[in-house]
Amino acid sequence: MSVNKEVKRITSNTLQKMKANGEKISMITAYDFSFARLFDEAGVDVMLVGDSASNVMAGHETTLPITLDHMIYHAQSVVRGINRSMIVVDLPFGSYQSNSDIALASAIRIMKETGGHAIKLEGGEEVLDSIKRIISAGVPVMGHLGLTPQSIYKFGTYNVRAKEEAEAAKLKHDAKLLEEAGCFAIVLEKIPAHLAKEVTASISIPTIGIGAGVDCDGQVLVMHDMLGINKEFQPRFVRRYLELHDMIVNAVKQYITDVKSKDFPNQSESY
Ligand code: KIV
Repeated sequence: MSVNKEVKRITSNTLQKMKANGEKISMITAYDFSFARLFDEAGVDVMLVGDSASNVMAGHETTLPITLDHMIYHAQSVVRGINRSMIVVDLPFGSYQSNSDIALASAIRIMKETGGHAIKLEGGEEVLDSIKRIISAGVPVMGHLGLTPQSIYKFGTYNVRAKEEAEAAKLKHDAKLLEEAGCFAIVLEKIPAHLAKEVTASISIPTIGIGAGVDCDGQVLVMHDMLGINKEFQPRFVRRYLELHDMIVNAVKQYITDVKSKDFPNQSESY
């Protein structure tokens, strides 16, 4: 009996072809079943189960506290909601930096326990051994360069990275290393648009930008930012497609009013 589904899934090969054909890649973060189902229905190419769950789902100030177990829980929920999108799962802080054995074990847990299709991790040369081992175990790896939020205490700020020549040169070098190691794509976060353009043209694998200009091969946004759930977070790279914060607060206010005034439930809403 075949277990193949009819739906044509997005894979790393699809993304490679999209880059070759000049078709932009859409990526959005997702952390639960219900939103994953909506985003899949909308036709998004890639969903990232980002460690930004630490911020937007758990309310932490940084991405550092989230654990591998938490990421697995979120990824399992997302995977249940999709038919077509490719699911990439972040390796959280502390699950890969120590050595490549630990990195490989973390990646294997994600693939085995979630049904996700690939992992993402932050960094260049310093995590190259881990990237190579994970890829040689058959797990597709997406890199992440520029502003890497797991290193926020090293950077000390969320400002644009690689504006200075030395950091830009390292980023270009790291992008080449990740390509040579076999990464299938690289997220470029919060770097000058001209640098992202140069990197994108210099490597054969797709770049996915967030705050990195229009010349990346694709774009990613955190769902809470683009849907306007977070009103307070308004960096210039976010375009808000909805104002869900206000819509939800107003809807719940109306519900409270209806309950208090005994307008809800009415006869047709009762048995
Ligand atoms: O965790 C996340 O949401 C991310 C994106 C910002 C790329 O890594």
